[in-house]
Amino acid sequence: MIDPTKDTVLITGAAGAIGTALRVGLRAGWSHLRLTDARPIKDPTPNEQAIVADVGDRAAIEKMMQGVSAVVHLTGVGADYSLEDLFRVNVRGVFDVFESARLAGVQRIVYASSNHAFGCYPIAERVSPELPPRPDSLYGAFKVYGESILRNYFDRHGIRSVSMRIGTYRTLPIDQRSLATWLSPGDVARMVDASLRHPDPGCLIVNGYSANTRIKIADTNWDFLGYKPKDNAEDHIEMLRSKGVDVDGPWEWPEHGGSHARVPERRPR
Ligand SMILES: NC(=O)c1ccc[n+]([C@@H]2O[C@H](COP(=O)([O-])OP(=O)(O)OC[C@H]3O[C@@H](n4cnc5c(N)ncnc54)[C@H](O)[C@@H]3O)[C@@H](O)[C@H]2O)c1
Repeated sequence: MIDPTKDTVLITGAAGAIGTALRVGLRAGWSHLRLTDARPIKDPTPNEQAIVADVGDRAAIEKMMQGVSAVVHLTGVGADYSLEDLFRVNVRGVFDVFESARLAGVQRIVYASSNHAFGCYPIAERVSPELPPRPDSLYGAFKVYGESILRNYFDRHGIRSVSMRIGTYRTLPIDQRSLATWLSPGDVARMVDASLRHPDPGCLIVNGYSANTRIKIADTNWDFLGYKPKDNAEDHIEMLRSKGVDVDGPWEWPEHGGSHARVPERRPR
């Protein structure tokens, strides 16, 4: 277990959407948070130390890793970025952060993976993390790469980790699909908090969703992790209806990855 009163937790990608939600959700319970991002990190509180650095700056990453017990690795670019950005941030950046963590003796890594790691499974299949990955895009394939490095670091170096296959992180659900895949700000903080506090998660993969009525995945690992989601996208259905979202019609996307599994993949160069 990582000690919330004594241990330092490094959060990468801390200026982003999920990073900002984690700062709000973890601030009260965690005494030593180190935050990093390429963008400035706004208004650090006394228990937060902010470091502006690009994930490509290996020396800076190694330096900020000193004295850290756990890393929450959120830095990443989305599927709409260039292949070059994906390689630089989601492949090389993941390696440099994980490897710097290993060299610094970090005990635990919590990793922002994605539902696009299994996005090619038909929506009718209740996918659990025990099934083999079926990425729906290069973005999804690179998330699986991050998960498999963590597997190797567990088997070879004993580093404990939790990979969160996040669905749709937003302040509120945004469309029909997110009624199933939404992960709320409060629940992402609860999931990371549970991932850090668990005495021994081994090398765990969990689906990162709220307690949505329309959930279409099966995940026995929530109980093991001690993750107790409190939010449900269904509570926002009237808001979606009022915006003209078709929440009552037939299910829009045939695969778990939604549009990712249907758009033409960008051509590798
Ligand atoms: N939001 C979602 O629905 C969702 C779903 C699945 C997985 N994820 C993953 O969760 C993580 C966080 O997502 P988010 O929604 O907060 O994204 P975000 O874009 O809001 O935050 C990502 C942060 O990474 C930082 N970053 C990007 N490139 C960098 C670089 N070269 N060096 C240093 N920092 C850099 C950005 O400045 C940004 O603050 C990502 O890895 C993403 O792939 C998000």
